[in-house]
Amino acid sequence: MNIRILGSAAGGGFPQWNCNCFNCKGLRDGSIRASARTQSSIAVSENETDWVLINASPDILTQIRSTHALQPARAIRDSGICAVLLIDAQIDHVTGLLMLRERSTPLPLYATEQVFADLSTGLPITQVLSHYCGIERHTVRPDGEPFVIAPLHQTSFSPITLLSKAPPYSPHRNNPHPGDNIGIVITNRISGQTAFYAPGLGILTPEVSAAMASVDILLVDGTFWTEDEMITLGLSKKPASEMGHLPQSGPGGMIEVLDRMPARRKILIHINNSNPILREDSAQRALLAQHGIEVAADGMEIAL
Ligand code: MLT
Ligand code: MN
Ligand code: ZN
Repeated sequence: MNIRILGSAAGGGFPQWNCNCFNCKGLRDGSIRASARTQSSIAVSENETDWVLINASPDILTQIRSTHALQPARAIRDSGICAVLLIDAQIDHVTGLLMLRERSTPLPLYATEQVFADLSTGLPITQVLSHYCGIERHTVRPDGEPFVIAPLHQTSFSPITLLSKAPPYSPHRNNPHPGDNIGIVITNRISGQTAFYAPGLGILTPEVSAAMASVDILLVDGTFWTEDEMITLGLSKKPASEMGHLPQSGPGGMIEVLDRMPARRKILIHINNSNPILREDSAQRALLAQHGIEVAADGMEIAL
């Protein structure tokens, strides 16, 4: 089984279209050592032909173009993408669904009831798609039983409830429910190997900590280095916690959390363009390396 990182950046990508922070400007003018990154999505396959996409990013077309395995070309119209599983209804995770509208059959879409509710009200993507390919709805229960997604039969997906909020546009933004956000444990049922994917992880409940402690590979929130990163750089007024993200540095930060975990690979994903860990020669990146923590990049492959 293989996990492919399609997009390792947070919403906005790297560089972000309207951003002139040190990183975005430096990437454009070649003055920093870093690579461009597209927005948040991974793909899972058993045979390198059939892929379950976890999240459909606004950069999906770029990601498909640069990942040849996603186009097996078995017919005049074809795609290796057999289904999409959503972990929340954030814009950076769902707007790519609109780009899949040319399918000739309804798109198998796996999400919680809460995410389907947001996608039929605040951001009515499923209604819009009903005028094109339509969707085949599969409701995922938060903390429900592990499920499989055909034609991947050796892989199971287990949702873990995350304590966080629905997106800013959601009619229930200020009335959080279990199912607004989930993490996913991906299990290779042949090898028994497991990975936990949670690109947005603000609060570590006992359930989340237990899931993180039990897996072989962690692919977790790498959005911000510090709680006030966006504020001190003058990019936003929001602290990391308000956006549902646990910063890496400092007491109780992600580095400390990951230090306690026995996983064989610890990988940060969903990295915001402001984060100093994007610079390959930064002190922050060196500190991560000392802790055995990797930084995801687009195109990275993870064998499970
Ligand atoms: C987030 O995870 O906080 C999002 O990337 C923000 C966004 O896409 O607007
Ligand atoms: Mn995001
Ligand atoms: Zn920037």
